[in-house]
Order: sequence, then structure tokens, then C-alpha cells
Amino acid sequence: MIRIKIPATSANLGSGFDSLGVALNWYNYVWIEESDRLEIFAKDGMDIPMGKDNLVYQAAEFVYNACGKKIPGLKIIQENNIPMARGMGSSSACIVAGVTGANELLGRPFDRDTLINFACKIEGHPDNTTPAVLGGLTVSAMDGGRVYSVGTQVSEKFRFALLIPNFQLKTERARAALPMQYSKQDAVYNLSRSALMVASLAGGKAENLRVAVQDKLHQPFRADLIDNCAEIFALTYQNGSLGTYISGAGPCIMSIIESGNTAYYGRMVKQLEERGIAGWRLEVLESDREGTQVLPAT
Ligand code: HSE
Repeated sequence: MIRIKIPATSANLGSGFDSLGVALNWYNYVWIEESDRLEIFAKDGMDIPMGKDNLVYQAAEFVYNACGKKIPGLKIIQENNIPMARGMGSSSACIVAGVTGANELLGRPFDRDTLINFACKIEGHPDNTTPAVLGGLTVSAMDGGRVYSVGTQVSEKFRFALLIPNFQLKTERARAALPMQYSKQDAVYNLSRSALMVASLAGGKAENLRVAVQDKLHQPFRADLIDNCAEIFALTYQNGSLGTYISGAGPCIMSIIESGNTAYYGRMVKQLEERGIAGWRLEVLESDREGTQVLPAT
């Protein structure tokens, strides 16, 4: 049996809709081996699909099919630490676990770029799947059904302060809120900021991040789907956020902060409480630098 460690991911980074993503040091674990039947367990007792509708299984099946092999029975054990339907890449983590696990069980017929492509095909967009595979900060573009991607590391100057609400927001609903067309000005607004984001996060240019998170493609249409969104954004900036954005399709809200801003956690928790904004918890995370790892089972 092998064990796979997959990082949570935060997509879009505000302006980089369906393109940018960052891996974080918060992990799901999946144990997988071939078996004479399909057996799926949740180590943490979480309510997950236990049959062929299980996403780890479906992703593994995709790889067996790509290899021209019939999928055998599998034993899959999941430890799901990444909260589901919160904009933290929980479904991408399952998909990346399945494609990575199947590739190992088959003797590694596919390289990492091919796994990135498989994962994106299953998920539908590459901005969570690519950083989950590679770690760090990733840029992905699609052309002809193929992912063109590159990874880089986030400067040590930054940490990621994640606010997680106690409600879910399905990606389909958050995508349905978006318009069909955008103006040229809006396109230019976003593409300049997403390029600024990548260079500034990698290069440690803290003063650019407040502008780099701005966007006109998705956040203005999603903010209303998240209770207290505007008030929380304002609070994060009062406490030293360098740039705050809706993580992926939401509803998590992410703030990039200076790694030395150790007072941020306590202040935010206190002020949320004082304002009666209940049901949010805060985690201060670092960028994961390694991406998905295959480990011996323990
Ligand atoms: N880029 C996607 C979106 C991320 O914003 O809809 C969700 O997985």
C-alpha cells in the first residue's frame, strides 16, 4: 500500500481567474492499493462516496483507461483534512490523489506533465490541480485541451491567512453567477494584475499585492454569495492584510500577510467576535513547496 500526501490549494489569487493557484501546507492523505474488490474508507469518519462515484476512484480509473488497462478492485482510505466545497481545492486533492496513486500502481507509465493534464481534464480547470501536483505558485494556460504550466516559489516574506466559514458554496453555483461576456477594459484590468501577482508573490513585492488581487471577472459577482464578505475584507485590511481575495470560487476568504505579522491571528479573531460575525475560523498557512508526495504507507 502507498500513501499520497496532497496539499490544499487556493486558486485565482483574485485576478488570475482559472489560471493562478498556490499550494498550502494543509494536507489530505490517501492510501491506495489494488484489491479483489472496491473498498473505500474514510479514516476520519467523514461522509464520502463509497462506490464508483468516489472521485479518487474515478480519477484512478481515468489513468487505467489511458493506459489501456481495465481497473482492478482498489482499496482506498481517505483522510480528508481540507474542508469541502470551501474554495480550498478539496476535489482537486481527490483527483490528484487518484491519478498519482494509479500511476504508481501501474509502475509510473506517465510523467508529471501528463498527470497535470489528466487532473485538469477531470476537474475542468487547471488552477487547483496544477499547484496540487507541483506545489508553490503555479501559472496554467489551456490550449487545444492541453495545460501549459510553470511553477515557482512564493517569497518567504508571505503567509496565507485563511478565513473558513461554516457554510459551503458549490463551484457550479459560484460559476453560474458570472457573466457570459466582459469588456476589453476588464480583460486588460485582470491580465495586468494577474501578471503583477505572480512577479510580486515570487519577488517579495508586498506593496503590489493590494492591487494585484483586484479583479473584474469573478469576485464582484460572487461577493453577494458570501455572508459578511465586504465587512470581512475591510477588517483584514485594518489588520495588515497585504491583499485579500475570495479563495477559488469561495466561500473562503484569503489574506496574504507579512510572515512577521504575528498579531494578525489574535486581532482578527477578536474583531470578528466583537462585530458578531460568527461561524468563521482562521488558519495561518504557508505555501507548500513540494506538491503531491508519494510516501510509504504508515
Ligand atoms: N477558477 C475556479 C473558479 C476555481 O473560480 O470558478 C474553482 O475551482
